[in-house]
Amino acid sequence: MYSETVMDHFTHPRNMGEIPNASGTGTVGNAKCGDIMKIDIQVEDGIIKDVKFKTFGCGAAIATSSMASEMVKGKSLSEALKLTNLAVAEALGGLPPVKMHCSMLAEEAIRAAIEDYMAKHPEQP
Ligand code: FES
Repeated sequence: MYSETVMDHFTHPRNMGEIPNASGTGTVGNAKCGDIMKIDIQVEDGIIKDVKFKTFGCGAAIATSSMASEMVKGKSLSEALKLTNLAVAEALGGLPPVKMHCSMLAEEAIRAAIEDYMAKHPEQP
């Protein structure tokens, strides 16, 4: 069964949508199920000022995207890179073992968005 926090983020996802002219975008697919997640980040002075996601996937993937977006907003890029799927799942009050793979999408999409930003801004340390 899903925790109340999972159900809250699934039914009321935070930061859903897209950022026009985002600083960085990451799109990843889940090898296990084929679901897809896209994350846009807006970066100012090395800080993630805004983050939006679009997830074409299951409820656990939507809840983890929502929670992960809240966890990286306002963080520095280096802090955001440390976010793990386990930390997101823990913040959600846990996920059923068979749904843990869904939480990988958020971790990978955030990393891909940051790498996209870094590739576009090689002058950044
Ligand atoms: Fe595909 Fe959950 S079943 S992300």
